[in-house]
Amino acid sequence: MQNFDYQTPTRLIFGRGAVDEKLAEVMSRFGEKVLLTYGGGSIRKIGLYDRVKEILKDKEIYELPDIQPNPKYDPSVLDGVKICKEHGIDVILSVGGGSVLDCSKAIAAGAKYDGDPWDLISYKATAEDALPIVDIITLAATGSEYDPGGVISRTETNDKIGYVDPHLFPAVSFLDPVYTFSVSRKQTAAGCADAMNHIMEQYFCEDSTLLNDGFMEAGLKSLMINAKKCLEDPEDYEARAEMMLCCTYGCNGIYALGSSDSGWPCHAIEHALSAYYDITHGEGLAIITPRWMEHILSGKTVGRFVKYGVNVFGIDPDQDEYNIARQAIDATYRFFESIGIPMHLRDVGIDGSRIGEMAHHIAVNEGLENAWIPLDENDLVKILTESL
Ligand code: NZQ
Ligand code: ZN
Repeated sequence: MQNFDYQTPTRLIFGRGAVDEKLAEVMSRFGEKVLLTYGGGSIRKIGLYDRVKEILKDKEIYELPDIQPNPKYDPSVLDGVKICKEHGIDVILSVGGGSVLDCSKAIAAGAKYDGDPWDLISYKATAEDALPIVDIITLAATGSEYDPGGVISRTETNDKIGYVDPHLFPAVSFLDPVYTFSVSRKQTAAGCADAMNHIMEQYFCEDSTLLNDGFMEAGLKSLMINAKKCLEDPEDYEARAEMMLCCTYGCNGIYALGSSDSGWPCHAIEHALSAYYDITHGEGLAIITPRWMEHILSGKTVGRFVKYGVNVFGIDPDQDEYNIARQAIDATYRFFESIGIPMHLRDVGIDGSRIGEMAHHIAVNEGLENAWIPLDENDLVKILTESL
Protein backbone atom coordinates (compact mmCIF):
# COMPACT_ATOMS: atom_id res chain seq x y z
CA MET A 1 0.00 0.00 0.00
CA GLN A 2 1.21 3.50 -0.87
CA ASN A 3 1.66 6.24 1.74
CA PHE A 4 -0.94 8.99 1.74
CA ASP A 5 -1.77 12.30 3.39
CA TYR A 6 -5.50 12.85 3.26
CA GLN A 7 -7.87 15.51 4.51
CA THR A 8 -11.33 16.56 3.36
CA PRO A 9 -12.54 19.72 5.07
CA THR A 10 -15.95 19.73 3.34
CA ARG A 11 -19.10 19.36 5.44
CA LEU A 12 -21.72 17.32 3.60
CA ILE A 13 -25.37 17.95 4.44
CA PHE A 14 -27.37 15.25 2.71
CA GLY A 15 -31.04 14.49 2.25
CA ARG A 16 -34.57 15.63 1.60
CA GLY A 17 -35.24 19.09 3.03
CA ALA A 18 -31.57 19.81 3.85
CA VAL A 19 -31.62 23.28 2.28
CA ASP A 20 -34.79 24.39 4.08
CA GLU A 21 -33.47 23.06 7.33
CA LYS A 22 -29.88 24.27 7.36
CA LEU A 23 -28.99 26.79 4.62
CA ALA A 24 -29.77 29.85 6.78
CA GLU A 25 -27.68 28.53 9.67
CA VAL A 26 -24.77 27.63 7.39
CA MET A 27 -24.75 30.96 5.56
CA SER A 28 -24.93 32.94 8.79
CA ARG A 29 -21.32 31.89 9.49
CA PHE A 30 -19.83 33.45 6.37
CA GLY A 31 -20.69 37.17 6.33
CA GLU A 32 -23.28 39.34 4.65
CA LYS A 33 -22.18 39.67 1.04
CA VAL A 34 -23.00 36.64 -1.08
CA LEU A 35 -22.21 35.93 -4.72
CA LEU A 36 -24.97 33.60 -5.96
CA THR A 37 -23.76 31.65 -9.01
CA TYR A 38 -25.95 29.52 -11.28
CA GLY A 39 -26.41 28.21 -14.79
CA GLY A 40 -28.91 28.67 -17.56
CA GLY A 41 -32.21 28.44 -15.75
CA SER A 42 -32.76 24.92 -14.36
CA ILE A 43 -32.73 26.20 -10.77
CA ARG A 44 -35.55 28.61 -11.57
CA LYS A 45 -37.64 25.82 -13.12
CA ILE A 46 -37.39 23.67 -9.99
CA GLY A 47 -38.16 26.54 -7.63
CA LEU A 48 -34.74 26.44 -6.00
CA TYR A 49 -33.77 29.96 -7.05
CA ASP A 50 -36.84 31.45 -5.32
CA ARG A 51 -36.35 29.28 -2.27
CA VAL A 52 -32.70 30.32 -1.85
CA LYS A 53 -33.56 34.00 -2.31
CA GLU A 54 -36.29 33.68 0.30
CA ILE A 55 -33.98 31.96 2.82
CA LEU A 56 -31.28 34.58 2.26
CA LYS A 57 -33.56 37.62 2.09
CA ASP A 58 -31.57 39.47 4.75
CA LYS A 59 -28.25 39.04 2.93
CA GLU A 60 -26.70 41.35 0.35
CA ILE A 61 -26.85 39.16 -2.74
CA TYR A 62 -25.01 39.67 -6.05
CA GLU A 63 -25.67 37.26 -8.91
CA LEU A 64 -23.63 35.58 -11.63
CA PRO A 65 -26.11 33.73 -13.90
CA ASP A 66 -25.69 31.84 -17.20
CA ILE A 67 -22.64 29.75 -16.34
CA GLN A 68 -22.47 27.25 -19.20
CA PRO A 69 -21.64 23.54 -19.21
CA ASN A 70 -17.86 23.25 -19.66
CA PRO A 71 -17.62 26.60 -17.85
CA LYS A 72 -15.69 29.31 -19.61
CA TYR A 73 -12.88 31.44 -18.27
CA ASP A 74 -14.13 34.37 -20.29
CA PRO A 75 -16.73 35.60 -19.50
CA SER A 76 -17.87 33.59 -16.45
CA VAL A 77 -14.72 33.27 -14.30
CA LEU A 78 -13.53 36.79 -15.12
CA ASP A 79 -16.98 38.31 -14.49
CA GLY A 80 -17.27 36.51 -11.17
CA VAL A 81 -13.84 37.64 -9.99
CA LYS A 82 -14.72 41.20 -10.93
CA ILE A 83 -17.94 41.15 -8.89
CA CYS A 84 -16.13 39.68 -5.88
CA LYS A 85 -13.40 42.30 -5.95
CA GLU A 86 -15.68 45.26 -6.61
CA HIS A 87 -18.14 44.42 -3.86
CA GLY A 88 -15.95 42.69 -1.27
CA ILE A 89 -17.89 39.42 -1.44
CA ASP A 90 -17.64 37.23 1.69
CA VAL A 91 -18.86 33.88 0.35
CA ILE A 92 -19.89 32.23 -2.90
CA LEU A 93 -23.12 30.22 -3.00
CA SER A 94 -23.04 27.92 -6.04
CA VAL A 95 -26.44 26.48 -7.01
CA GLY A 96 -26.42 24.04 -9.92
CA GLY A 97 -24.36 21.29 -11.50
CA GLY A 98 -20.63 20.67 -11.57
CA SER A 99 -20.02 23.41 -14.13
CA VAL A 100 -21.45 26.10 -11.87
CA LEU A 101 -19.45 24.80 -8.93
CA ASP A 102 -16.20 24.47 -10.90
CA CYS A 103 -16.57 28.02 -12.15
CA SER A 104 -17.27 29.18 -8.59
CA LYS A 105 -14.08 27.51 -7.39
CA ALA A 106 -11.96 29.37 -9.94
CA ILE A 107 -13.72 32.61 -8.98
CA ALA A 108 -13.09 31.93 -5.28
CA ALA A 109 -9.35 31.62 -5.87
CA GLY A 110 -9.20 34.46 -8.41
CA ALA A 111 -10.95 36.82 -6.01
CA LYS A 112 -8.05 36.53 -3.58
CA TYR A 113 -5.32 36.81 -6.19
CA ASP A 114 -3.89 40.08 -7.51
CA GLY A 115 -2.84 38.91 -10.97
CA ASP A 116 -4.63 37.26 -13.91
CA PRO A 117 -6.69 34.32 -12.54
CA TRP A 118 -5.45 32.20 -15.46
CA ASP A 119 -2.06 32.12 -13.70
CA LEU A 120 -3.71 29.99 -11.00
CA ILE A 121 -5.72 27.74 -13.33
CA SER A 122 -2.65 27.09 -15.48
CA TYR A 123 -0.43 26.48 -12.43
CA LYS A 124 1.87 29.44 -13.13
CA ALA A 125 1.06 30.65 -9.61
CA THR A 126 -0.31 29.01 -6.48
CA ALA A 127 -3.32 30.28 -4.56
CA GLU A 128 -2.59 31.44 -1.04
CA ASP A 129 -6.22 31.89 -0.13
CA ALA A 130 -9.71 31.63 -1.60
CA LEU A 131 -13.21 32.77 -0.71
CA PRO A 132 -15.30 30.14 1.07
CA ILE A 133 -17.76 28.24 -1.13
CA VAL A 134 -21.10 26.79 -0.13
CA ASP A 135 -22.88 24.78 -2.80
CA ILE A 136 -26.22 23.18 -3.49
CA ILE A 137 -25.45 20.54 -6.09
CA THR A 138 -28.34 19.75 -8.43
CA LEU A 139 -26.81 17.08 -10.69
CA ALA A 140 -25.23 13.79 -9.64
CA ALA A 141 -22.07 13.46 -11.71
CA THR A 142 -18.76 15.17 -11.09
CA GLY A 143 -18.19 14.90 -7.35
CA SER A 144 -17.03 18.52 -7.39
CA GLU A 145 -19.04 19.01 -4.20
CA TYR A 146 -16.52 16.88 -2.29
CA ASP A 147 -13.24 17.56 -4.06
CA PRO A 148 -10.65 20.32 -4.49
CA GLY A 149 -10.84 20.53 -8.30
CA GLY A 150 -12.52 22.68 -10.91
CA VAL A 151 -12.36 22.24 -14.68
CA ILE A 152 -12.23 25.45 -16.72
CA SER A 153 -12.30 25.95 -20.50
CA ARG A 154 -10.56 28.67 -22.43
CA THR A 155 -12.12 28.75 -25.84
CA GLU A 156 -9.50 30.63 -27.84
CA THR A 157 -6.70 28.18 -26.96
CA ASN A 158 -8.81 24.97 -26.85
CA ASP A 159 -7.67 24.46 -23.27
CA LYS A 160 -9.76 22.64 -20.70
CA ILE A 161 -7.76 22.43 -17.51
CA GLY A 162 -8.45 20.53 -14.32
CA TYR A 163 -7.39 23.04 -11.69
CA VAL A 164 -6.75 21.31 -8.35
CA ASP A 165 -5.82 23.09 -5.13
CA PRO A 166 -6.72 22.34 -1.50
CA HIS A 167 -8.22 25.84 -1.18
CA LEU A 168 -10.95 24.77 -3.60
CA PHE A 169 -12.71 22.27 -1.34
CA PRO A 170 -16.22 23.62 -0.72
CA ALA A 171 -16.75 24.58 2.92
CA VAL A 172 -20.24 23.08 2.90
CA SER A 173 -22.08 21.05 0.26
CA PHE A 174 -25.84 20.53 0.32
CA LEU A 175 -27.04 17.37 -1.41
CA ASP A 176 -30.78 16.97 -1.66
CA PRO A 177 -31.61 14.20 -4.15
CA VAL A 178 -35.04 15.76 -4.74
CA TYR A 179 -33.36 18.58 -6.68
CA THR A 180 -32.05 15.99 -9.14
CA PHE A 181 -35.53 14.66 -10.05
CA SER A 182 -35.66 17.14 -12.94
CA VAL A 183 -32.32 16.13 -14.48
CA SER A 184 -32.89 15.03 -18.10
CA ARG A 185 -32.36 11.48 -19.34
CA LYS A 186 -29.28 12.64 -21.24
CA GLN A 187 -27.67 14.29 -18.21
CA THR A 188 -28.65 11.43 -15.87
CA ALA A 189 -26.91 8.94 -18.17
CA ALA A 190 -23.92 11.23 -18.70
CA GLY A 191 -23.60 11.74 -14.94
CA CYS A 192 -23.62 7.98 -14.40
CA ALA A 193 -20.92 7.50 -17.06
CA ASP A 194 -18.80 10.27 -15.54
CA ALA A 195 -19.01 8.80 -12.03
CA MET A 196 -18.32 5.27 -13.33
CA ASN A 197 -15.29 6.54 -15.15
CA HIS A 198 -14.02 8.31 -12.03
CA ILE A 199 -14.03 4.90 -10.39
CA MET A 200 -12.42 3.18 -13.36
CA GLU A 201 -9.65 5.77 -13.45
CA GLN A 202 -8.81 4.68 -9.91
CA TYR A 203 -9.49 0.95 -10.37
CA PHE A 204 -7.21 0.40 -13.36
CA CYS A 205 -3.83 1.04 -11.77
CA GLU A 206 -0.70 -0.81 -10.68
CA ASP A 207 -1.28 -1.13 -6.92
CA SER A 208 -4.65 -1.47 -5.27
CA THR A 209 -6.05 -3.19 -2.19
CA LEU A 210 -8.85 -5.63 -1.57
CA LEU A 211 -10.61 -2.91 0.38
CA ASN A 212 -10.40 -0.34 -2.41
CA ASP A 213 -11.32 -2.86 -5.08
CA GLY A 214 -14.41 -3.95 -3.17
CA PHE A 215 -15.46 -0.35 -2.52
CA MET A 216 -15.04 0.58 -6.18
CA GLU A 217 -16.73 -2.57 -7.52
CA ALA A 218 -19.70 -1.82 -5.25
CA GLY A 219 -19.70 1.78 -6.48
CA LEU A 220 -19.81 0.67 -10.12
CA LYS A 221 -22.62 -1.81 -9.49
CA SER A 222 -24.63 0.72 -7.52
CA LEU A 223 -24.25 3.33 -10.25
CA MET A 224 -25.38 0.92 -12.97
CA ILE A 225 -28.41 -0.30 -11.02
CA ASN A 226 -29.48 3.09 -9.73
CA ALA A 227 -28.96 5.02 -12.98
CA LYS A 228 -31.35 2.60 -14.68
CA LYS A 229 -33.88 3.10 -11.90
CA CYS A 230 -33.56 6.89 -12.23
CA LEU A 231 -34.18 6.61 -15.97
CA GLU A 232 -37.27 4.43 -15.39
CA ASP A 233 -38.64 6.69 -12.66
CA PRO A 234 -36.93 10.10 -12.38
CA GLU A 235 -38.58 10.69 -8.99
CA ASP A 236 -37.32 7.48 -7.34
CA TYR A 237 -35.83 9.09 -4.24
CA GLU A 238 -33.77 6.11 -3.09
CA ALA A 239 -32.20 5.62 -6.52
CA ARG A 240 -31.44 9.32 -6.96
CA ALA A 241 -29.99 9.40 -3.42
CA GLU A 242 -27.68 6.43 -3.86
CA MET A 243 -26.54 7.62 -7.25
CA MET A 244 -25.81 11.03 -5.76
CA LEU A 245 -23.62 9.63 -3.00
CA CYS A 246 -21.68 7.37 -5.39
CA CYS A 247 -20.98 10.44 -7.51
CA THR A 248 -19.94 12.52 -4.51
CA TYR A 249 -17.13 10.10 -3.66
CA GLY A 250 -15.84 10.22 -7.25
CA CYS A 251 -12.86 12.57 -7.31
CA ASN A 252 -12.28 12.97 -3.60
CA GLY A 253 -9.61 10.27 -3.45
CA ILE A 254 -11.50 8.19 -0.90
CA TYR A 255 -12.09 5.34 -3.37
CA ALA A 256 -8.35 4.86 -3.75
CA LEU A 257 -6.53 5.70 -0.51
CA GLY A 258 -3.25 3.81 -0.60
CA SER A 259 -3.54 2.88 -4.28
CA SER A 260 -1.13 4.08 -6.95
CA ASP A 261 -2.17 6.82 -9.38
CA SER A 262 -3.31 5.74 -12.84
CA GLY A 263 -2.79 9.14 -14.50
CA TRP A 264 -6.55 9.40 -15.29
CA PRO A 265 -6.07 8.80 -19.05
CA CYS A 266 -9.72 8.84 -20.14
CA HIS A 267 -10.23 12.22 -18.49
CA ALA A 268 -7.13 13.60 -20.16
CA ILE A 269 -8.50 12.51 -23.54
CA GLU A 270 -12.06 13.64 -22.89
CA HIS A 271 -11.05 17.09 -21.72
CA ALA A 272 -9.56 17.69 -25.16
CA LEU A 273 -12.77 16.50 -26.84
CA SER A 274 -14.92 18.88 -24.82
CA ALA A 275 -12.39 21.70 -25.20
CA TYR A 276 -12.39 21.39 -29.00
CA TYR A 277 -16.05 20.48 -29.51
CA ASP A 278 -17.90 21.52 -26.31
CA ILE A 279 -19.51 18.09 -25.89
CA THR A 280 -21.03 16.66 -22.69
CA HIS A 281 -18.20 15.35 -20.50
CA GLY A 282 -19.86 12.06 -19.46
CA GLU A 283 -20.77 11.19 -23.04
CA GLY A 284 -17.20 11.76 -24.21
CA LEU A 285 -15.94 9.50 -21.43
CA ALA A 286 -18.39 6.72 -22.25
CA ILE A 287 -17.25 6.77 -25.88
CA ILE A 288 -13.54 6.78 -25.06
CA THR A 289 -13.50 4.28 -22.19
CA PRO A 290 -14.10 0.95 -24.00
CA ARG A 291 -11.70 1.95 -26.81
CA TRP A 292 -9.03 2.87 -24.27
CA MET A 293 -9.64 -0.47 -22.52
CA GLU A 294 -9.16 -2.42 -25.75
CA HIS A 295 -6.05 -0.41 -26.54
CA ILE A 296 -4.33 -1.16 -23.22
CA LEU A 297 -5.34 -4.83 -22.93
CA SER A 298 -2.09 -6.80 -22.58
CA GLY A 299 -0.31 -9.29 -20.35
CA LYS A 300 0.30 -6.50 -17.88
CA THR A 301 -3.33 -5.38 -17.61
CA VAL A 302 -5.38 -8.50 -18.28
CA GLY A 303 -5.55 -9.49 -14.59
CA ARG A 304 -7.28 -6.23 -13.67
CA PHE A 305 -9.81 -6.71 -16.46
CA VAL A 306 -10.53 -10.23 -15.25
CA LYS A 307 -11.19 -8.99 -11.72
CA TYR A 308 -13.38 -6.18 -13.05
CA GLY A 309 -15.32 -8.52 -15.36
CA VAL A 310 -15.92 -11.20 -12.76
CA ASN A 311 -16.74 -8.93 -9.80
CA VAL A 312 -18.66 -6.15 -11.54
CA PHE A 313 -20.42 -7.98 -14.38
CA GLY A 314 -20.56 -11.50 -12.94
CA ILE A 315 -18.67 -13.04 -15.89
CA ASP A 316 -17.87 -16.75 -15.47
CA PRO A 317 -14.27 -16.90 -14.10
CA ASP A 318 -13.59 -20.37 -15.55
CA GLN A 319 -12.52 -19.14 -18.97
CA ASP A 320 -9.44 -17.94 -20.76
CA GLU A 321 -8.40 -14.61 -19.19
CA TYR A 322 -8.43 -12.66 -22.45
CA ASN A 323 -11.89 -14.02 -23.13
CA ILE A 324 -13.09 -12.65 -19.80
CA ALA A 325 -11.36 -9.31 -20.37
CA ARG A 326 -12.97 -8.87 -23.81
CA GLN A 327 -16.39 -9.75 -22.41
CA ALA A 328 -15.85 -7.17 -19.65
CA ILE A 329 -14.98 -4.46 -22.18
CA ASP A 330 -17.99 -5.40 -24.28
CA ALA A 331 -20.24 -5.31 -21.19
CA THR A 332 -18.96 -1.82 -20.39
CA TYR A 333 -19.81 -0.65 -23.91
CA ARG A 334 -23.25 -2.33 -23.83
CA PHE A 335 -24.12 -0.79 -20.48
CA PHE A 336 -23.42 2.76 -21.69
CA GLU A 337 -25.37 2.04 -24.86
CA SER A 338 -28.29 0.66 -22.81
CA ILE A 339 -28.71 3.94 -20.91
CA GLY A 340 -28.96 5.85 -24.17
CA ILE A 341 -25.47 7.26 -24.56
CA PRO A 342 -24.33 7.85 -28.15
CA MET A 343 -21.32 5.56 -28.48
CA HIS A 344 -19.43 7.09 -31.41
CA LEU A 345 -17.67 10.44 -31.70
CA ARG A 346 -19.56 11.08 -34.96
CA ASP A 347 -22.83 10.82 -32.98
CA VAL A 348 -21.77 13.86 -30.92
CA GLY A 349 -20.58 15.92 -33.88
CA ILE A 350 -16.89 14.98 -33.97
CA ASP A 351 -15.38 13.84 -37.27
CA GLY A 352 -11.80 12.75 -37.88
CA SER A 353 -10.54 16.11 -39.10
CA ARG A 354 -8.90 17.32 -35.88
CA ILE A 355 -7.78 14.01 -34.36
CA GLY A 356 -4.09 14.69 -35.04
CA GLU A 357 -4.35 18.14 -33.51
CA MET A 358 -6.17 16.86 -30.42
CA ALA A 359 -3.76 13.95 -29.95
CA HIS A 360 -0.86 16.39 -30.09
CA HIS A 361 -2.55 18.73 -27.60
CA ILE A 362 -3.17 15.86 -25.16
CA ALA A 363 0.35 14.45 -25.56
CA VAL A 364 1.92 17.84 -24.87
CA ASN A 365 -0.34 18.94 -22.01
CA GLU A 366 -1.60 15.92 -20.07
CA GLY A 367 1.49 14.01 -18.99
CA LEU A 368 0.19 10.61 -20.13
CA GLU A 369 3.75 9.36 -20.60
CA ASN A 370 3.54 8.80 -16.81
CA ALA A 371 0.16 7.03 -16.82
CA TRP A 372 -0.13 3.44 -15.57
CA ILE A 373 -0.06 2.42 -19.22
CA PRO A 374 1.79 5.28 -20.91
CA LEU A 375 0.14 6.77 -23.99
CA ASP A 376 2.03 8.72 -26.64
CA GLU A 377 0.66 10.71 -29.55
CA ASN A 378 0.33 7.62 -31.78
CA ASP A 379 -1.61 5.76 -29.09
CA LEU A 380 -3.92 8.74 -28.75
CA VAL A 381 -4.54 8.93 -32.49
CA LYS A 382 -5.44 5.21 -32.47
CA ILE A 383 -7.84 5.52 -29.51
CA LEU A 384 -9.55 8.57 -30.99
CA THR A 385 -9.80 6.97 -34.43
CA GLU A 386 -11.28 3.78 -32.95
CA SER A 387 -13.83 5.99 -31.18
CA LEU A 388 -15.12 7.58 -34.39
O1 NZQ B 1 -27.32 25.46 -16.79
P1 NZQ B 1 -28.54 24.88 -16.17
O2 NZQ B 1 -29.79 25.51 -16.61
O3 NZQ B 1 -28.44 24.79 -14.68
O4 NZQ B 1 -28.68 23.37 -16.75
C1 NZQ B 1 -27.73 22.35 -16.53
C2 NZQ B 1 -26.87 22.07 -17.76
O5 NZQ B 1 -27.56 22.38 -18.93
C3 NZQ B 1 -28.47 21.05 -16.33
N1 NZQ B 1 -28.91 20.80 -14.94
C4 NZQ B 1 -28.18 20.88 -13.81
N2 NZQ B 1 -28.95 20.55 -12.75
C5 NZQ B 1 -30.18 20.29 -13.24
C6 NZQ B 1 -30.16 20.47 -14.63
N3 NZQ B 1 -31.25 20.29 -15.40
C7 NZQ B 1 -32.40 19.95 -14.79
N4 NZQ B 1 -32.49 19.75 -13.45
C8 NZQ B 1 -31.41 19.92 -12.65
N5 NZQ B 1 -31.52 19.68 -11.33
O6 NZQ B 1 -27.56 20.04 -16.72
C9 NZQ B 1 -26.70 20.56 -17.75
C10 NZQ B 1 -25.27 20.11 -17.46
O7 NZQ B 1 -24.81 20.73 -16.27
P2 NZQ B 1 -23.26 20.66 -15.87
O8 NZQ B 1 -23.11 21.40 -14.61
O9 NZQ B 1 -22.43 21.08 -17.03
O10 NZQ B 1 -23.04 19.09 -15.67
P3 NZQ B 1 -22.03 18.32 -14.75
O11 NZQ B 1 -22.43 18.41 -13.33
O12 NZQ B 1 -21.93 16.99 -15.35
O13 NZQ B 1 -20.64 19.11 -14.90
C11 NZQ B 1 -19.82 18.92 -16.02
C12 NZQ B 1 -18.54 19.71 -15.87
O14 NZQ B 1 -17.77 19.26 -14.74
C13 NZQ B 1 -16.44 18.93 -15.15
C14 NZQ B 1 -16.65 18.48 -16.57
O15 NZQ B 1 -15.44 18.45 -17.30
C15 NZQ B 1 -17.63 19.51 -17.08
O16 NZQ B 1 -16.97 20.71 -17.41
N6 NZQ B 1 -15.85 17.97 -14.21
C16 NZQ B 1 -15.55 18.39 -12.96
C17 NZQ B 1 -14.94 17.59 -12.03
C18 NZQ B 1 -14.60 18.05 -10.68
N7 NZQ B 1 -14.71 19.32 -10.36
O17 NZQ B 1 -14.18 17.28 -9.85
C19 NZQ B 1 -14.56 16.21 -12.34
C20 NZQ B 1 -15.18 15.69 -13.58
O18 NZQ B 1 -14.35 14.65 -14.07
C21 NZQ B 1 -15.42 16.67 -14.67
O19 NZQ B 1 -14.28 16.83 -15.50
ZN1 ZN C 1 -15.29 13.25 -14.94
